Amino acid sequence: MYRYLLMLLMFFSTLYSNDPIQPLPKKVKYDREKALLGKKLYFDPILSRDNTISCASCHNLDLAGVDNLQFSYGIKGQKGIINTPTVLNSIFNFRQMWDGRTKTLTHQVQFPITNPLEMGNSFENLIKTLKKKSYYNNTFNALYSNGITKVNIGDALEEFQKTLITPSTFDDYLRGNKNAITENQKKGFELFNKKGCVSCHNGINIGGGLYAQFGLTNEAIAKNLINENTDNNSFKNGYNPDLGLYNITKNDFDKFYFKVPTLRNVALTYPYLHNGRIKTLNEAISSIAKAQLGLDLTKEETFLIEEFLKSLSGKVTIIE
Ligand code: HEC
Ligand code: HEC
Repeated sequence: MYRYLLMLLMFFSTLYSNDPIQPLPKKVKYDREKALLGKKLYFDPILSRDNTISCASCHNLDLAGVDNLQFSYGIKGQKGIINTPTVLNSIFNFRQMWDGRTKTLTHQVQFPITNPLEMGNSFENLIKTLKKKSYYNNTFNALYSNGITKVNIGDALEEFQKTLITPSTFDDYLRGNKNAITENQKKGFELFNKKGCVSCHNGINIGGGLYAQFGLTNEAIAKNLINENTDNNSFKNGYNPDLGLYNITKNDFDKFYFKVPTLRNVALTYPYLHNGRIKTLNEAISSIAKAQLGLDLTKEETFLIEEFLKSLSGKVTIIE
């Protein structure tokens, strides 16, 4: 019960605060040398056990940091169990992963590198292989006093990921250029605020800042999407990806709680939801309005919100 009260409180405090959404900072501080090392690691399949999969295989930077598949493929053609979120702007998430199981990008990389369905490696093996490559051996030793370690691999990847931010026309608009977005996008933004989307999707990342229950106001719609997903091999090792935060806490009331995803670049990061069950942005908006707010949006309202969300697509500049 207190969760609903909290949610209501959040809802009103964001509605009435002046700036529930902030523009991306113009500059993010990062260490250039470490970021270049991280970039090399990011695109290198050496991170995977059989040298076939890199971070970029699933988080393709030409595809807004995703692969547009319902589930990605790891080593040996194995299919994943949860949709791949974007890496773009992930530095601004309060936690990482759909269930928020880790806070920092440095720590996050341990999961894909050792996940048997993804890169299937061990750090012992990875450090051994990296030490044999003179570029990695020399660069790690030059930049870190303790050379190649699990933490330093994560740190370099974090420094690179700090550069993956995507300013968009909407940021120009927030900074005061009233003509940066179209009239329809302005109307869509107004609806996004008025209807209450902003109570969960807010902050710099327009999401990524809190947990919320999927199906808050319409469990049937949520359960329908969830149940249809149970025929895949999701339940290996007792991890049911549809249960979200529950997997971490094992508290019943955390079932179906997920980190609210960022909406930056959302027009490009289809398919949608943690289980990739929704193919189009239009359908995502109308289903989520039902599931999260108990609202039946009209076609026109859905169209306008979709137009607004398109203004959140930005370009990433890869450091050289
Ligand atoms: C085989 C596909 C695959 C590979 C390879 C992969 N990832 Fe991911 N990544 C995923 C999936 C799936 C998730 C979501 C997992 C979850 O929430 O349980 C994810 C989540 C993330 C997140 C969290 C984003 C968020 O919004 O929560 C980051 C950051 C990330 N990956 C970075 C990386 C980096 C860096 C590498 C390389 C070391 C990498 N990934 C390799 C599939 C992949
Ligand atoms: C109560 C919190 C809450 C509210 C209100 C809310 N959302 Fe969300 N939204 C979420 C959560 C949680 C998810 C992830 C659900 C999942 O994957 O199972 C999500 C997912 C999404 C997605 C899919 C993103 C992706 O990458 O898969 C879109 C698009 C979206 N919301 C748009 C909206 C719009 C538009 C509104 C207003 C009509 C809205 N949301 C209202 C919590 C909320």
